Amino acid sequence: MPDSVTFAIIGATGAVGREALAILAQRAHPVDHIRAITSDRSAGTQIPYAGSALTAEEFDADQLADVDCALLCTDATTSRRVAPCLVQQGVLVIDNSSAFRHDPRVPLVIPEINAAELQPESTIIANPNCSTIILLLATHPLRAAFGLREIVVSTYQAVSGAGLAAIDELRRQTHAALESRVLSHHVFPQPCAFNVFPHESTFDPATGFNGEEQKIISESRRILADPSLSIMPNCVRVPVERAHSQSILVTLEQPATLQQVRACLAAAPGLRWIDDQTAPTSPTPQQATGIDPVLVGRVRRADAGPDESSQRFMLWVCGDQLRKGAALNALQIADLALNLRARSPRALPRALDRPHAHLPTPIEN
Ligand SMILES: NC(=O)c1ccc[n+]([C@@H]2O[C@H](COP(=O)([O-])OP(=O)(O)OC[C@H]3O[C@@H](n4cnc5c(N)ncnc54)[C@H](OP(=O)(O)O)[C@@H]3O)[C@@H](O)[C@H]2O)c1
Repeated sequence: MPDSVTFAIIGATGAVGREALAILAQRAHPVDHIRAITSDRSAGTQIPYAGSALTAEEFDADQLADVDCALLCTDATTSRRVAPCLVQQGVLVIDNSSAFRHDPRVPLVIPEINAAELQPESTIIANPNCSTIILLLATHPLRAAFGLREIVVSTYQAVSGAGLAAIDELRRQTHAALESRVLSHHVFPQPCAFNVFPHESTFDPATGFNGEEQKIISESRRILADPSLSIMPNCVRVPVERAHSQSILVTLEQPATLQQVRACLAAAPGLRWIDDQTAPTSPTPQQATGIDPVLVGRVRRADAGPDESSQRFMLWVCGDQLRKGAALNALQIADLALNLRARSPRALPRALDRPHAHLPTPIEN
């Protein structure tokens, strides 16, 4: 990404926004080509950036016309409100929230899997749900090699998936529990320290699935362009600060040997293979924290048949949901989409020149 690209991080004080700034700092992106945008609550605060500081500004689309790409690291309601204003200014929008993930005009992209969905004319691009990104990064290579009939996944999700306030809640509750004090809770419906509970998103009484599980099902089917793919998720919060873990059982279309499955995962982009068949080692969320690759290991045949091959395999995966599950995936999309725009004479540099009909209409989900 050239230094001359100007990014606006909308929600720069949040968990995802901070991670986006950390990645830009690692890339040595110049401080004068970054705008840090927040709500009026944080406007004026100084946000550390690569030995310097950014001054947080309240969102005002009219002041952002010089921005090339905005990463929305905000809740879905805020994203629905600000995205069309940014598109009007000609700003490419990558949204981390769920606001646009089911709009058929908005690409929903994991670069390693469906980068071809990006078009030079794309104005808003949706970043998938963090658990969906981690799950598909590990299962898509197997789908490409052997076909995929079914996924059963249990997640062990870090509290920071619910934002910065949730990290604070886990730390406060941990201190309180160790001092035998009452565990008050505000972010989660029950104490997260020394506890495990179903994901706190809205529960659908008709299906029994919570919102996170529904996102995994619908987004995976959309990204893989396989509306009938069988996916059974069970999403759980655990008292881990950062990085989600997943226990995955896949049923393949064609039988494969353990060696073939291992070789397939070891060669897959975005994954790091850390299985050791001679020692009881496996990826952990602490190992996955702060790094780009999703860690995969503990691959086992689920069937104990006489044949060497099987259609069912179990794996264990850990991925940093703030990084590949959010900020990194969004910046990878930005790199590809800005390149496409720069190379295509069809892409108009300014949205003001475009017919209004090009603006996606946000939908509720
Ligand atoms: N956390 C994760 O692991 C993760 C992973 C994937 C996707 N996501 C999604 O990413 C988004 C951000 O999540 P998060 O965890 O970073 O949340 P967060 O820690 O709660 O941060 C929210 C950010 O949004 C800003 N904000 C709120 N209202 C705003 C407004 N009206 N205008 C401008 N900025 C505003 C806040 O700024 P103030 O300081 O001013 O309040 C803060 O910087 C959410 O949609 C979430 O679902 C999160």
